[in-house]
Formats: sequence, structure tokens, C-alpha cells
Amino acid sequence: MIIAVDGPAASGKGTIARALARHFNLPHLDTGLLYRAVAHTVRRLELDPTKEADAVAACDFDELTLADPGLRDDEVGQMASVVSAHPLVRAALLARQKRFAHQPGGAVLDGRDIGTVIAPDADAKLFVKATAPVRARRRHNELLSRGKAITYEQVLADIRDRDARDSHRSTAPLAQAADAAPLDTSNLSIEAAVERAISLVEGQARGK
Ligand code: DC
Repeated sequence: MIIAVDGPAASGKGTIARALARHFNLPHLDTGLLYRAVAHTVRRLELDPTKEADAVAACDFDELTLADPGLRDDEVGQMASVVSAHPLVRAALLARQKRFAHQPGGAVLDGRDIGTVIAPDADAKLFVKATAPVRARRRHNELLSRGKAITYEQVLADIRDRDARDSHRSTAPLAQAADAAPLDTSNLSIEAAVERAISLVEGQARGK
């Protein structure tokens, strides 16, 4: 079974994807980490994230980068959104994601284009969303708990920026697949969101 979980920054898609992977006993790939690793490498090599050739050079990142806790930083997320808009960067990361999705036994992937580009054939597709203020509040709390000094207003502005960039790029923009089930987590606890996600996936997989 292939499960595709897409949605905007801080919507809860990562938490939901991890819980689905545990519940259905499937391997999980957070595809945002791949773009974050490219961004992190661009920064380390002092390259220019707005230049496609520079970003492409960083796609050959060291695998150990994927375990770097710095990948979770907000600046890396913003830069990941910039490098991910380059078509050649998306092309460079495509085969790896498709291979993960189509491994024997299935997988759970979360990102922006899993249901539309990486695994249009997925058995279940969720589009996780929440209002921008709710997402900003969650991300702000998470950053505070990790000791980052940043205001709620700054986090909200960053989220709106990232939404606009991820939704308006020409290649594989953030979009809900026609056959994806929407899941609005704005007013749901994590437990309630996960429970709803499991029942949506079971319903979709049964219908296949
Ligand atoms: O999900 P995230 O915040 O870790 O993702 C970081 C950035 O990477 C996001 O702003 C856009 C990009 N991304 C993408 O373009 N396609 C994906 N499948 C996953 C992430």
C-alpha cells in the first residue's frame, strides 16, 4: 500500500505520516528533508540558492546531512522552498522518491507533490491543511521549545511566504490531487487528526 500525504508547511502532515507509517507498519520518507538537505548544502558551500546550477550542484549531498538536526531550522525550510522551485532540482530528486514509494510492500511519503507527481497511483492520498495562524502558532511553539528566539508574527510571515512560493512555482506546485481526501487539522488534537487519517486511508484503500 502506498500512502501519499501532502500539505503546506506546519499543517501536521509529518506527524500524521509518521503515525500512519507506524499504524500500517510501512517505511516512511519525509521528502521535505531532501529539499532541506539541498538547502543546507547550498549554505555550507556558500552557493546561491536562487541560481539553479548552484542548487543542482548541491543535490549530490552527503547522506549524513539527512541526520543533521540543523535541517529543522526555519531558515533552512525557507531556503528549501527556494531551491525546490528549480525544475532541475526537482528532477534530480525524483527517481529516489519514486523508488521509495514503489518499493515492495509499500510506503508512506509526505511532502507537497506526492499524490500529484511522485505517486499519482497511491492507494490512499491525504491533503492535510490548517489555517495559516494555526500553523504559525504550532511552529512558533515548536521553535520556542527548541530555544529559538523568534516572534509569532515572524513565523506567520514566513509561513505565508512559503505557502505563496510553494503554491505558485511552475513545476509540481503544492496542490491537492483530485482524488485526495482533505483533512483540516485546525481544530483537531494530534490524536483526533491521526484517528481521522487512519479511517480516511482505510476507506480509500478499501475502495481500490
Ligand atoms: O515539508 P518541509 O517544510 O520540510 O519542506 C521544505 C520545503 O521543501 C517546502 O517549503 C517546499 C519543498 N518541498 C517540495 O517542494 N516538495 C516536497 N515534496 C517536499 C518539500
